[in-house]
Amino acid sequence: MTTALPVPTLKAGPAGLTLEGVALADIAERFGTPTYVYSRAALTQAYEAYQRALGLRKSLVCYAVKANSSLGILSVFAKLGAGFDIVSRGELARVLAAGGDAGKVIFSGVGKSADEMRYALESGIGCFNVESAAELDRLNEVAGSMGKRAPIAFRVNPDVNPNTHPYISTGLRSNKFGVAFTEALDLYRKAATLPNIEISGIDCHIGSQLLDPAPMAEAADKILGLVDQLAREGITLDHIDLGGGLGIRYRDEEPPTPTEYLKPLLERFAGRDEALCFEPGRSLVGNAGLLLTRIEYLKPGVEKSFAIIDAAMNDLARPALYDAYHEIVAVAPRAVPATRYEVVGPICESGDFLGHDRDLSVETGDLLAILSAGAYGMTMSSNYNTRPRAAEVLVDGDTVHVIRDRETLEHLLKGERPLP
Ligand code: LLP
Repeated sequence: MTTALPVPTLKAGPAGLTLEGVALADIAERFGTPTYVYSRAALTQAYEAYQRALGLRKSLVCYAVKANSSLGILSVFAKLGAGFDIVSRGELARVLAAGGDAGKVIFSGVGKSADEMRYALESGIGCFNVESAAELDRLNEVAGSMGKRAPIAFRVNPDVNPNTHPYISTGLRSNKFGVAFTEALDLYRKAATLPNIEISGIDCHIGSQLLDPAPMAEAADKILGLVDQLAREGITLDHIDLGGGLGIRYRDEEPPTPTEYLKPLLERFAGRDEALCFEPGRSLVGNAGLLLTRIEYLKPGVEKSFAIIDAAMNDLARPALYDAYHEIVAVAPRAVPATRYEVVGPICESGDFLGHDRDLSVETGDLLAILSAGAYGMTMSSNYNTRPRAAEVLVDGDTVHVIRDRETLEHLLKGERPLP
């Protein structure tokens, strides 16, 4: 059973499941449930797998903050020397608060406001990934008004199909992201004439939860063609950013390792001077975290039986939103035959499920761990049904750090007022 768990530092022992040196039952006892629980060792291993794969290549791994933007998580990557991929002023503020290096920050996103540009320029970020001609003009203007030059890369849409969920595929011509491949050359020519713009790189990101390295290699070929064409026109780049997207195992997927994923890319860029950048999110944090929850009620039904837990779609939206599968395991399974349950939350929606048809040997009050919840879990949580958001803890060996307090009703009502 142990080897089947996708969270590498989670083990089954006599005290039930333990993460690194800490029993999940102790965490529930001390901090309550629902609680997001992360493993520092798993975060570090995931980051180091990229570093190992990149070897001595001039490169930068920019963690995609949107996957999990908690300060505790960001500080782990900042200490490891990572860069960061951000998409908002708020994410940049988080990176800086967590001790990240502004010079290693790249700013992606289709809708950057002038305020966000100013804040990023003041902070001295490494690069703006520009996604339209209009954005280029605005950035030139904003930088000019501050007496600065803005470093840019164009996010080029290579028009390849990444074969993933339609909501998280971004590199097709029909997506809103990036500039069209056919327009990229002209945009670079234009950028080269703008006084407050400094051309620094090129970027692409084709989608998320990619399990096949081939579409990425196809995108890299297209990007490389463009880089060579630019060089012929005297436009040289200091970095090539190939985005994020490497998938993880939620159930029985067999994603490539960073080494396997990067191999065809490193081969293509061998011997070139540009630094290679990546923007991984899910593959750095997804399987370093789980959502710890308690069963409130077991409700036998005629057609289905329900395990009603204290976590819900507001805590982990992925099942409701994408019909995503997350492994759900009992923290201390009972010696009774398993019953098949719909694992659901207390929210008033039929879409409020965390898992369908799960065989569990449990009783009311038992703890469950919802696995692979480190990425796009807490960051996509909400207060729907006026539910305070979960606490977050980071396990580091035998130590448990509370990296976010559980929200209280005071947090939730703050800033609101009834009519007089
Ligand atoms: N770079 C850019 C420009 C992105 O838009 C994203 C993710 C990443 C990097 C990181 O991709 P990753 O390595 O995590 O695949 N909420 C969805 C995923 C949305 C991904 C959005 N962009 C989910 O829960 O599956």
